[in-house]
Amino acid sequence: MISFSLNGEQVSTDVSPDTPLLWVVREHFALTGPKFGCGMGLCGACTMHFNGTAVRTCVLPVAAVANSEVTTIEGVGTPEDLHVVQQAWIKNNVPQCGYCQSGQIMSAISLLKTNPNPSDKEIDDAMSGNICRCGTYPRIKQAIHDAAGAMQTGVVLFDPKKELELEPTEQGELA
Ligand code: FES
Ligand code: FES
Repeated sequence: MISFSLNGEQVSTDVSPDTPLLWVVREHFALTGPKFGCGMGLCGACTMHFNGTAVRTCVLPVAAVANSEVTTIEGVGTPEDLHVVQQAWIKNNVPQCGYCQSGQIMSAISLLKTNPNPSDKEIDDAMSGNICRCGTYPRIKQAIHDAAGAMQTGVVLFDPKKELELEPTEQGELA
Protein backbone atom coordinates (compact mmCIF):
# COMPACT_ATOMS: atom_id res chain seq x y z
CA MET A 1 0.00 0.00 0.00
CA ILE A 2 1.36 3.41 -0.97
CA SER A 3 0.16 6.49 0.89
CA PHE A 4 0.63 10.14 0.05
CA SER A 5 -1.03 13.52 0.38
CA LEU A 6 -3.13 14.44 -2.65
CA ASN A 7 -4.29 18.06 -2.66
CA GLY A 8 -4.01 18.09 1.13
CA GLU A 9 -5.88 14.81 1.75
CA GLN A 10 -4.19 11.58 2.80
CA VAL A 11 -4.83 8.86 0.23
CA SER A 12 -3.66 5.29 -0.23
CA THR A 13 -3.50 2.96 -3.19
CA ASP A 14 -2.60 -0.68 -3.68
CA VAL A 15 -1.65 -0.42 -7.36
CA SER A 16 1.68 -1.78 -8.56
CA PRO A 17 4.46 0.56 -7.30
CA ASP A 18 5.68 1.25 -10.82
CA THR A 19 2.30 2.57 -11.99
CA PRO A 20 2.78 6.13 -13.24
CA LEU A 21 1.40 8.73 -10.84
CA LEU A 22 -0.68 10.23 -13.67
CA TRP A 23 -2.64 6.98 -14.06
CA VAL A 24 -3.22 6.68 -10.33
CA VAL A 25 -4.47 10.24 -9.98
CA ARG A 26 -6.74 10.12 -13.02
CA GLU A 27 -8.06 6.56 -12.80
CA HIS A 28 -8.17 5.89 -9.07
CA PHE A 29 -8.79 9.35 -7.66
CA ALA A 30 -10.79 10.77 -10.60
CA LEU A 31 -8.77 13.96 -10.90
CA THR A 32 -8.68 14.55 -14.63
CA GLY A 33 -7.15 18.03 -14.77
CA PRO A 34 -3.69 16.59 -15.46
CA LYS A 35 -3.67 15.23 -19.00
CA PHE A 36 -1.97 12.40 -20.87
CA GLY A 37 -0.06 13.72 -23.86
CA CYS A 38 3.14 11.93 -24.84
CA GLY A 39 3.64 9.49 -21.97
CA MET A 40 7.38 10.06 -22.27
CA GLY A 41 8.05 13.12 -20.14
CA LEU A 42 8.30 15.35 -23.21
CA CYS A 43 5.16 17.51 -23.42
CA GLY A 44 4.27 18.61 -19.88
CA ALA A 45 0.52 17.93 -20.12
CA CYS A 46 0.72 15.66 -17.06
CA THR A 47 2.55 18.16 -14.82
CA MET A 48 1.75 18.13 -11.09
CA HIS A 49 3.66 19.33 -8.05
CA PHE A 50 5.69 16.83 -6.04
CA ASN A 51 6.56 18.47 -2.73
CA GLY A 52 5.94 21.83 -4.42
CA THR A 53 8.01 21.30 -7.55
CA ALA A 54 6.67 20.66 -11.05
CA VAL A 55 7.22 17.10 -12.26
CA ARG A 56 6.12 15.01 -15.25
CA THR A 57 3.87 12.40 -13.75
CA CYS A 58 3.49 10.15 -16.81
CA VAL A 59 7.02 8.89 -16.09
CA LEU A 60 6.98 9.12 -12.28
CA PRO A 61 6.21 5.82 -10.51
CA VAL A 62 3.66 6.26 -7.76
CA ALA A 63 6.10 4.64 -5.33
CA ALA A 64 8.31 7.74 -5.67
CA VAL A 65 5.69 9.95 -3.99
CA ALA A 66 5.09 7.70 -0.95
CA ASN A 67 4.67 9.82 2.18
CA SER A 68 5.06 12.99 0.11
CA GLU A 69 2.82 15.82 -1.08
CA VAL A 70 1.24 15.80 -4.52
CA THR A 71 -0.77 18.72 -5.86
CA THR A 72 -2.80 18.75 -9.06
CA ILE A 73 -4.51 21.66 -10.78
CA GLU A 74 -7.62 20.76 -8.75
CA GLY A 75 -5.73 21.61 -5.56
CA VAL A 76 -4.41 24.98 -6.73
CA GLY A 77 -7.50 27.15 -6.42
CA THR A 78 -11.26 26.99 -6.51
CA PRO A 79 -13.68 28.68 -8.93
CA GLU A 80 -14.47 31.16 -6.14
CA ASP A 81 -10.91 31.64 -4.95
CA LEU A 82 -8.53 31.46 -7.87
CA HIS A 83 -4.76 31.29 -7.56
CA VAL A 84 -3.13 34.47 -8.89
CA VAL A 85 -1.68 32.51 -11.81
CA GLN A 86 -5.16 31.27 -12.70
CA GLN A 87 -6.39 34.88 -12.51
CA ALA A 88 -3.63 35.94 -14.89
CA TRP A 89 -4.56 33.09 -17.25
CA ILE A 90 -8.16 34.33 -17.40
CA LYS A 91 -7.16 37.98 -17.76
CA ASN A 92 -5.02 37.11 -20.76
CA ASN A 93 -7.45 34.59 -22.29
CA VAL A 94 -4.54 32.17 -22.46
CA PRO A 95 -6.18 28.82 -23.33
CA GLN A 96 -7.24 27.84 -26.81
CA CYS A 97 -8.19 24.13 -26.81
CA GLY A 98 -7.06 23.96 -23.17
CA TYR A 99 -5.48 20.51 -23.26
CA CYS A 100 -2.00 21.62 -22.19
CA GLN A 101 -3.09 24.35 -19.82
CA SER A 102 -3.24 22.59 -16.46
CA GLY A 103 0.35 21.53 -17.02
CA GLN A 104 1.32 25.04 -18.11
CA ILE A 105 -0.21 26.55 -14.96
CA MET A 106 1.48 24.02 -12.67
CA SER A 107 4.85 24.78 -14.26
CA ALA A 108 4.25 28.54 -14.05
CA ILE A 109 3.39 28.33 -10.33
CA SER A 110 6.50 26.26 -9.70
CA LEU A 111 8.63 28.81 -11.59
CA LEU A 112 7.24 31.79 -9.65
CA LYS A 113 7.93 30.06 -6.35
CA THR A 114 11.65 29.98 -7.06
CA ASN A 115 11.85 33.07 -9.27
CA PRO A 116 9.20 35.67 -8.38
CA ASN A 117 10.15 38.05 -11.20
CA PRO A 118 11.40 36.02 -14.17
CA SER A 119 12.70 37.58 -17.38
CA ASP A 120 11.39 36.53 -20.79
CA LYS A 121 14.35 34.20 -21.20
CA GLU A 122 13.89 32.68 -17.75
CA ILE A 123 10.23 32.05 -18.58
CA ASP A 124 11.19 30.47 -21.91
CA ASP A 125 13.75 28.24 -20.20
CA ALA A 126 11.45 27.19 -17.35
CA MET A 127 8.44 26.58 -19.59
CA SER A 128 10.26 24.93 -22.49
CA GLY A 129 9.13 21.46 -21.40
CA ASN A 130 5.46 22.40 -21.68
CA ILE A 131 4.31 22.09 -25.27
CA CYS A 132 1.24 23.90 -26.59
CA ARG A 133 0.06 22.73 -29.98
CA CYS A 134 -2.25 25.77 -30.18
CA GLY A 135 0.71 28.14 -29.87
CA THR A 136 -0.48 30.10 -26.85
CA TYR A 137 3.11 30.85 -25.81
CA PRO A 138 2.93 34.68 -26.09
CA ARG A 139 -0.16 34.78 -23.83
CA ILE A 140 1.44 32.33 -21.39
CA LYS A 141 4.47 34.60 -21.12
CA GLN A 142 2.35 37.71 -20.58
CA ALA A 143 0.24 35.92 -17.96
CA ILE A 144 3.35 34.86 -16.04
CA HIS A 145 4.60 38.47 -16.07
CA ASP A 146 1.17 39.67 -14.89
CA ALA A 147 1.05 37.05 -12.13
CA ALA A 148 4.56 38.01 -10.99
CA GLY A 149 3.50 41.67 -10.80
CA ALA A 150 0.27 40.84 -8.97
CA MET A 151 2.13 38.70 -6.44
CA GLN A 152 4.32 41.69 -5.63
CA THR A 153 1.57 44.34 -5.53
CA GLY A 154 -1.39 42.31 -4.29
CA VAL A 155 -3.51 43.44 -7.24
CA VAL A 156 -6.43 41.14 -8.05
CA LEU A 157 -6.28 40.35 -11.76
CA PHE A 158 -9.64 38.60 -11.98
CA ASP A 159 -12.31 38.38 -9.28
CA PRO A 160 -14.86 35.65 -10.03
CA LYS A 161 -17.21 37.01 -7.37
CA LYS A 162 -17.50 40.30 -9.27
CA GLU A 163 -18.12 38.40 -12.48
CA LEU A 164 -20.90 36.44 -10.78
CA GLU A 165 -22.55 39.70 -9.71
CA LEU A 166 -23.17 40.68 -13.35
CA GLU A 167 -26.85 40.43 -14.21
CA PRO A 168 -28.07 39.33 -17.60
CA THR A 169 -29.96 42.18 -19.33
CA GLU A 170 -31.07 40.40 -22.42
CA GLN A 171 -30.55 36.88 -23.58
CA GLY A 172 -26.83 36.32 -24.00
CA GLU A 173 -25.82 39.78 -22.80
CA LEU A 174 -24.32 40.89 -19.53
CA ALA A 175 -24.64 44.32 -17.93
S1 FES B 1 2.18 13.19 -20.88
FE1 FES B 1 3.72 13.49 -19.41
S2 FES B 1 5.16 14.77 -20.36
FE2 FES B 1 3.74 14.29 -21.92
S1 FES C 1 -4.17 25.40 -25.63
FE1 FES C 1 -4.33 23.76 -27.05
S2 FES C 1 -2.54 22.60 -26.74
FE2 FES C 1 -2.24 24.36 -25.52
